[in-house]
Amino acid sequence: LNSITVMLDGREVSGRPGTTILELAGEVGIRIPSLCYDPHLSALGACRVCLVEDEASGRLLASCVTPISPGMVINTASARVLENRKNVVELLLASHPDSCIVCDKGNRCELRTIATNLGVGLIDLEKIPSYNPLEELNPFIQRDLSKCIRCGRCIRADQEIAVVGAIDYTDRGFESRPAALHDAPLENTDCNFCGICVSVCPTGALFERHRSSTLSAQHATRTTCTLCGTGCAILLEHTGTRIVSVASADDPDTVNHLSLCVKGHYGMDFIQSKKRLTTPLIRKDGELQPAGWDEALSLIVERFSELKNDHGGNSLGALGASTCTNEENYLLQKLVREGFGSGNIDSSARLRGTALAEGIAQVLGSGTMTAPLAEIRNAEEILVIGADPLIESPIAGQLIKQAVKYHGSRLTLVDELPRGLSGFADTWLRPRPGAKVVLLAGILRQAFSRDCPEPTLASTWFAELDKRLEPFTLEKVEEATGVPAKLIAGTAARLSGAGKLALIAGAALAGDDGGPLAGLLLASLALRTGNLGRPGCGLFPIAASLNDQGALDMGATPDADGGLDYREMIEAACAGKLAGLYVVGENPALDCPGTTAVEKALSQLDFLVVQDRFLTETAALADVVLPSTSFAEKSGTWTSIERRIQQIKQAVPPVGDSRPDWKILTELMGRFGVQAQYESSEDVLSEIVKTIPSYAGVTSRHLSLEPVFQPCSDEGKPGESILFAGKPLPEPTGSPPDLPDPEPPDIRQDYPFSLVVNESLFCSRDRAATAHSATLQKASKARVEMNAFDANMLGLCDQGLAGIRSSHGSIQARVTFSPETPRGMLLLTSTSAFAPSGLFALAAKDQECRTPRLHRIAVNVEAVDV
Ligand code: SF4
Ligand code: SF4
Ligand code: SF4
Ligand code: FES
Repeated sequence: LNSITVMLDGREVSGRPGTTILELAGEVGIRIPSLCYDPHLSALGACRVCLVEDEASGRLLASCVTPISPGMVINTASARVLENRKNVVELLLASHPDSCIVCDKGNRCELRTIATNLGVGLIDLEKIPSYNPLEELNPFIQRDLSKCIRCGRCIRADQEIAVVGAIDYTDRGFESRPAALHDAPLENTDCNFCGICVSVCPTGALFERHRSSTLSAQHATRTTCTLCGTGCAILLEHTGTRIVSVASADDPDTVNHLSLCVKGHYGMDFIQSKKRLTTPLIRKDGELQPAGWDEALSLIVERFSELKNDHGGNSLGALGASTCTNEENYLLQKLVREGFGSGNIDSSARLRGTALAEGIAQVLGSGTMTAPLAEIRNAEEILVIGADPLIESPIAGQLIKQAVKYHGSRLTLVDELPRGLSGFADTWLRPRPGAKVVLLAGILRQAFSRDCPEPTLASTWFAELDKRLEPFTLEKVEEATGVPAKLIAGTAARLSGAGKLALIAGAALAGDDGGPLAGLLLASLALRTGNLGRPGCGLFPIAASLNDQGALDMGATPDADGGLDYREMIEAACAGKLAGLYVVGENPALDCPGTTAVEKALSQLDFLVVQDRFLTETAALADVVLPSTSFAEKSGTWTSIERRIQQIKQAVPPVGDSRPDWKILTELMGRFGVQAQYESSEDVLSEIVKTIPSYAGVTSRHLSLEPVFQPCSDEGKPGESILFAGKPLPEPTGSPPDLPDPEPPDIRQDYPFSLVVNESLFCSRDRAATAHSATLQKASKARVEMNAFDANMLGLCDQGLAGIRSSHGSIQARVTFSPETPRGMLLLTSTSAFAPSGLFALAAKDQECRTPRLHRIAVNVEAVDV
């Protein structure tokens, strides 16, 4: 299309048709003040602060909603414009309290800035007071609607970015205000406290309820949120040693752009928790007592060396560290392999996404996400199977909702339970608990026999897979899963016919029976239907969290040299075969299935060292505890579930005598005689790029300039954001594995209920962090939901105490009635302090990936007499 030329403040400038006057002015460096306009949101034209005049027509125009047209002669700051703009601002101030001096918004208030720039101070107009009580009914967001200028940015952010719809305009005229339906408190709505509405509010009408400090931030350090695997870019705003608040980096080149979730926005108060460890601790006379660094490190070297001499290197092992940087994972595995002389190293990545990853890798060669999460928005069809994206990766959840609501994507959900996305689904398949893999096989059989092109690659492998899928007829799969044949056939037709298909799988698939098989089937579907290597499609496993990807990339896994994995180390400790364990940022006493066995294992060790920020359940059992820093007090790199390599940057000094993990590990390596000439985390990165081929091209400088994805083999190149783009598709070799019989899942009479575990939105997989966020703890509640019909049959009332017993252990919990929980099921929401690991067995579920089951288990329920 031809460009349009206009006169703008006396200059001839051209823009694309459809460009607004405000946008064009921005492009040529002319700043027009605005209040209701926000580049992330649709334009509204509500405040009129952005007025400009068109000399050609003589009209005053709202520049944010007026597209340029040929012949316009625009003045953005003529006397007439300034006069009218002043009037608009004075009218806004007339109904605004004169409380700037005590307002939380401080010097960031856009209304005050515009008024000052226009020379508007105290106004002569009669005040129209807007009396609104301060609302502080939820733990996160406070509202002072007397400062609201009705710009609607919060409403549009809620609807267009968060896609929640918790708030809208209520009432008309002077009474008009953004509010939830019937003025309900936000916590009684679908609000997930992402805080995006607070971020976009130009005034002090919306603000963070519990700022960790009343100070104004003097500095902002751009770093990466480490509370899940999404890798949101954040600004840690700080003054001196205090973190004051957190904002998104607001960079379109990041995964989150303007968004954050409640954990990233409001959960960082853990950094300054009074419970942080500030000095090393050594167990003396049965008690952990403060000690100096030299004494603690000397004791570790002495005891581990003794154990190595007495029992060999393989009697030692380490767990860590999905909570740590790539550099720290690299150093830990080097310490274990070269210092301890052991291959026993693993991390809690093993408890999350590795099951799916193993299956995907059998088909695609690697088990990672194949494209950046943003590509979900470009998909025609989206399949979400066994995942709760709104909790597992809230940004992925947001992108799915945006895709459905604003980009015309169709969403198919496969889950027995209703999750946050069910209201957005075009089709919702609800298989019986434990029947997702059979359903997936049924969908594949149909898809491969329909519109799907004949496989041109790996034909033998696919021919074998077709044979294995033969028993999964529509009738058989309907009988086994309870999903109507018509729905299965319709889903298969849609998925196989989609030009762009995004497949999203999460913890409910990875942590259940057949996780690797599910990964293999999904990867086969993506490969066979050509949904790889292009924008808008691919495989998006989101079960991994924290820096699981970095831990695996750096070799903090036993796979390379046949050492013991996470579970095997616990079992070996139980059997007296593991004598010393070094735990970095992990908490097996709370997280590992089989709590009794884990406690026994940890207390039987000859020597247990824990390096953490808090005295976790595991640290409380240790012989030596080393205080490490949080991510805000150190530097390094971090690889997200998208394979995006990002920087962690130090914002504040370490708390007390705590030290960054990389420094502690460097010191220990030196004492164990391992080469460790690292003065900074950058020195470690320099060694990583020489050692790990998929990081060969990574430099700190490059990471600060543009997004870089693993694998990145060439320096200065951004790596492969979309795997297989412009490359041949992978060709699986060998034979596909056997599939389970398409039979209904067994229901044991003695354990007739299926208990499913869900994480709380307010809980990170780094439980130690969110457990020490006072703000998140206020909202975090462990609960067990159950259908009232089932509960009544058992004599349980709402909030009644239930004894829940599996074949491995038991817990007690109060039961909440939920009409949405299907009969025969229980939905347990775990929190930072409560993980139902005791119900699960330590024994491996899937030998091929050695992952214990942690998502669903058969249980018995009974009312407990109090
Ligand atoms: S916090 Fe998020 S979900 Fe809640 S109203 Fe604001 S934008 Fe909507
Ligand atoms: S609360 Fe803030 S963002 Fe929302 S309408 Fe009022 S001033 Fe605008
Ligand atoms: S917890 Fe995850 S989704 Fe939330 S802000 Fe941090 S990285 Fe982003
Ligand atoms: S910024 Fe243009 S009308 Fe508000």
